[in-house]
Amino acid sequence: MIKLLSHLSYVAITSPDVEASVTFYEEQVGLTVVDRIDGAVYLRCWGDYYSYSIVVIPGDEPSLDTMAWRTSSAEALDEAAKRIEAAGAEGEWIDDVPHIGRAYRFTGPWGHSMTLHWDVTRHHDTEGDAASIYPDRPSRRSKVAGAPRQLDHVTIASSDVDAFAQWYNDVLGFRIMARTLLDEAPISVFSVLTTNEKSHDLGVVLDGSSRAGRINHYAFWVDTREELLIAADVLMENGIPIEYGPSIHGIGEQNFLYYREPSTLRIELNTGGYRNYVPDWEPNTWRPSLGSNNFYRNSAMPMSMTESFPPADGPSATEEGVPDEIKDALLNPYAKHGRG
Ligand SMILES: [Fe+2]
Repeated sequence: MIKLLSHLSYVAITSPDVEASVTFYEEQVGLTVVDRIDGAVYLRCWGDYYSYSIVVIPGDEPSLDTMAWRTSSAEALDEAAKRIEAAGAEGEWIDDVPHIGRAYRFTGPWGHSMTLHWDVTRHHDTEGDAASIYPDRPSRRSKVAGAPRQLDHVTIASSDVDAFAQWYNDVLGFRIMARTLLDEAPISVFSVLTTNEKSHDLGVVLDGSSRAGRINHYAFWVDTREELLIAADVLMENGIPIEYGPSIHGIGEQNFLYYREPSTLRIELNTGGYRNYVPDWEPNTWRPSLGSNNFYRNSAMPMSMTESFPPADGPSATEEGVPDEIKDALLNPYAKHGRG
């Protein structure tokens, strides 16, 4: 199979209060508004190479509208669409994605909208306050302390983590990089996939709710751990609660920091981690007690981290969509299993 996808290009989310979200992205995250079309607001990090990486769309609750990947070529886009339809997913060609044009959008088996495109509009400020003195920088570095350089990854929720990973591996060539099974039972609660040398640009967490197509968080990249720590410091000074971190994930070995935007949707900042170029990588299986989520194995994950968006509902779901026994095993794996 030819290489189909290159990298995550943008994430579109919904917010009940678009202006509150946009103000937060501008003032607290350090993004810039590039366009407003039909109520949707298009924003970019200073280092994003294309027009935008985040779209905030009006909606009743926080949710994933679509996650977009750029293909490796125009031919790869056509091939990807063929493979998706052969696999039985519903999709359509669209010609009017702002600043992109033609794209193929489909809904995957677990209800997540994905948009694939080859066409882009490159961003390069060549004059004015936003212009960088360096040729490779699309814009000047943000003045907001700890502002991310670019979009990094998206993590969704699925009722079958391993089947989700296998479908996106089989159909679109995502490499499966690692997964986490609970210590107590062979239940797969997390997996990471990638289209390139990063540990992941697509993550999947277990969803015990009855709602399909949910998102757990998306992440931006900062260049250094110091910037991540400065971002944490500034968020605290600005009265923005930090949900989890700063710390390091065992899987991917990335420094992380989680907080929420006004819609309650979770944002992550990432930096560091390994590069993996192995084309036939065999994914290892982690356990929470091995430090899959917390490299240092010394702190429990807050219960709120199991919340995905939109919030779970329905009689079969717990409030956060994760059954209690799984939640217990995830949140404090070190009590029973020691620090290994
Ligand atoms: Fe993440």
